[in-house]
Amino acid sequence: MTQTAAEADIPTAVIATGGTIAMLADPASGVRRPTLSGATLAAAIRGLEVPLAHFQPYAIGSEDATFAHWLQLAREIAAVADAHAGVVVMHGTDTMEEAAYFMAECLPDAPISFCGAMRPPGTLGYDGGRNLLDAITVARSPLAPRLGTVVVMNHEVLPAWDVIKSDSVALSSFSTRHGTRIATVHDRQLRPLSLPLRFNWLGELPAVLPRADAVAYVRLTGSPGPRRFADAIAGAEGVVVEALGAGSVPAAVRAQLLGAAAQVPVVLSGRALSGPLQDEESYPHAWDDLLGGGVILEKRLDGPRARIRLSLCLALGREYRPLEADLI
Ligand code: DGL
Repeated sequence: MTQTAAEADIPTAVIATGGTIAMLADPASGVRRPTLSGATLAAAIRGLEVPLAHFQPYAIGSEDATFAHWLQLAREIAAVADAHAGVVVMHGTDTMEEAAYFMAECLPDAPISFCGAMRPPGTLGYDGGRNLLDAITVARSPLAPRLGTVVVMNHEVLPAWDVIKSDSVALSSFSTRHGTRIATVHDRQLRPLSLPLRFNWLGELPAVLPRADAVAYVRLTGSPGPRRFADAIAGAEGVVVEALGAGSVPAAVRAQLLGAAAQVPVVLSGRALSGPLQDEESYPHAWDDLLGGGVILEKRLDGPRARIRLSLCLALGREYRPLEADLI
């Protein structure tokens, strides 16, 4: 996609936050730490001639990222997005999908391209340079405003609401729960593959920090322990439960779930990777007691994203509504 001369001169904001993409081994201990800056990583990309502006709010392994980090990142993006030709965030891959979702909810009008690396710098198959170059291509594309926040890894452009790190080590680790591939990037060209969607994002930054302990998140298993389940959700300001199958909740914990729903928002997601979260045709009335008791069916998001949405709703003082979409 070509750009006008003016656009070609506007720098893309590259925000580095750490992660494997920037990790070097400490000379003394050999432990890898996020060391390289965005400028150093970009300078190593042969033939990258576009102007970049670099920012570094923090440098951590993303397993240590907190709501405070993501709120700080969102505020930094909000401050720089309008003055730049797109925003790229370099982030650790372990929580990249959650960080991207947090940004999508808070900043739906700021197109943000997340990227990272599955292999550290200096090792065989290091993929950080390729992913950074592709993320910059997406961020500078005229289509970027219609893509919203995306993850750009291994040539794939994947939506923040659906992307998952599905393999612990593979370069092709990032995929989506519902098979929603927005585009691919090859030879610095963005190739759209599907129609963009419009979502009922929350669309605001909370003035107060969402509390990490506010929402209890439970992924149900067969034979759940009723007392363990009750302990896990006790005292929460909100509850997210990943149910089995199309939304099956074992009888052993149904009463505890309904008890919580009488006190706080309870959101039922599903642990299956795709498919509907209700199947009245096959199981008529199977959800009547839960819906009657105020349990909210979240049909698109997995548990971790529903937790982020509910945590933001609590911080914003807003009622939780399931994420919904329609074609733009
Ligand atoms: N420490 C992990 C993280 O920052 C490494 C994984 C990665 O960045 O690829 O998410």
